[in-house]
Amino acid sequence: MFENAMTRHAYRGNYTYCYCLQASRLRFVLDEVLKNNTQLEISSTGDAMIVKELYRTGRIDKDTYIICNGHKQLQYTQQICELIEEGFNVIPVIDSLREIGAYEQIHARSINVGIRIASDETQSAPFRTSRLGVRYSEVCNLYRTCIQHHSKLRLRMLHFHVDSGIRDTASYWSELACFLHKYCKLRKVCPSLDSINIGGGLPIAHSPDFSYDYAGVIDQIVETISKICTRSNITVPHLFTEFGRYTVGESGATIYQVIEQKQQNATEVWYMINGSFINHALDVRGKKETPICLPINNWSHPQRKVLLGGSTCNAQDYYTGSQDTPYVEMPRFDEFMEDQYVGLLHTGAHQEETRASHFLVPVPKHVIMDRDEDGKLHSWLFTPKHASEQVMRQLGYGPDMAHSSDGSNLSHRGSIIG
Ligand SMILES: Cc1ncc(COP(=O)(O)O)c(C=O)c1O
Repeated sequence: MFENAMTRHAYRGNYTYCYCLQASRLRFVLDEVLKNNTQLEISSTGDAMIVKELYRTGRIDKDTYIICNGHKQLQYTQQICELIEEGFNVIPVIDSLREIGAYEQIHARSINVGIRIASDETQSAPFRTSRLGVRYSEVCNLYRTCIQHHSKLRLRMLHFHVDSGIRDTASYWSELACFLHKYCKLRKVCPSLDSINIGGGLPIAHSPDFSYDYAGVIDQIVETISKICTRSNITVPHLFTEFGRYTVGESGATIYQVIEQKQQNATEVWYMINGSFINHALDVRGKKETPICLPINNWSHPQRKVLLGGSTCNAQDYYTGSQDTPYVEMPRFDEFMEDQYVGLLHTGAHQEETRASHFLVPVPKHVIMDRDEDGKLHSWLFTPKHASEQVMRQLGYGPDMAHSSDGSNLSHRGSIIG
C-alpha cells in the first residue's frame, strides 16, 4: 500500500517496513515475519538479546535495520553499543537528552542515530504529551549542541509515534504535519538527515463491522509528506514504519468453553467460561479496544443476549463488549447435552503479557495452525496448558522452595547474588 501510494505521488524516497518486536516476540511469529524482508524495531534489553539470537540462527543478517526505541537504561544501551560494535545496522533513536552520552565509548567510526519527537496525544488522553521522546522545542538544540559537531554521531532519522494510532482524524493529521515541518526545518541544517519514521499504529478489526480505509489513509500520509516537503523545498525523506499490532494482531484467537449458564435475575444470563478474561486477554483489561467475541459453534441455534463471565473472583473478570455493551449474542444450548465454545478473536499481539496467571487460573494451551504450500491446514502444540502447580512455583510455593530462617529463598539465593 505504501509502495502504491508512492508510485501514485511520484515519491522519490524508499519505504522500509520494520516489525515492532514488542507486539509479539514469539519465535514462530518472528520466523514468519522475517520471511518477508522485514526490518526490526526493538525497545528493551531482552529485544537486543533476541536480535543476537536471530542473527546466530541465520534469520537476519547484519544489513537488517535494528531501530532501537524506548527510554533506555544502562543494560539496554550497553546491548545497543555491543550490536553497533559487532557491525549490526543499528539506529538508536534518542529518547531523552541524557541518552546521547551512552554512545560516547563506542569504537565504531560512525554511528547513525535518530531522534524521537514527543508527540501530543488526542484530547481524550489523560495527558497531553507522550513521556517518550524529546520535546519539540528541544530537538534542534539537541542536534546543534550534541550531534552536529560530533566526530561519530550522524543524525539520520526523525521519529514519532502516536499512541492512539493512525486515525483519519484532524488530530492525527495535524500531528503529522507538525512533525513534517520539524523535519523540514532540521533537514535544512542537517544534510545527513534523510529518513522519517512514523512509528506504528495501524489498527486491526475490533468488531465484526470494523472498517478502515488502509489504502486511503496511507495514500494521504504519503501525499502529506510529499506536499509539505515540496512546499519547503526539501527532498522527500525515506519512510520507515513499525507496525506491530497490524502485523500480528489478527493472527491469534483464544477459545474458551462455556461451562455453565447462570440465570442471575429475570433477564440476565451469564455464560461462565473455563478461563479468565483477566488472564488471557490483555486487551479486555484496561484498553478501550476489546477483541471480537463470537460463538465458535452452534451457529444455527436460536440466539440470545448474554453476559460472559470469567471464573476468577475479580469483579472485572467479564467480557466488556466491543460496542459499548457487555451483552453478546450467543447460541442457546443445552449445557448437559452440548458443548459451546466462545472465541476471542484477533488476540495475536501482546500475547506474552497475557500469559501471566491470575488467581492461579492456568494459562491455556497454545496451538499454532498454519497452511502448507498446498493450502492444507496443519496444527501443532506450541505450549501445553500450564498446570496450577507451575503457577504455584512461580509464586514461591512447592516442595523444593526451601526457606532459610531469615525468610529468604535458599534455592534461588545463589543465582540472584551471582
Ligand atoms: C515506538 C513504537 N513503535 C511502534 C509501536 C507499535 O505500535 P502498533 O502495535 O500499534 O503498530 C509502538 C507501540 O507501542 C511504539 O511505542
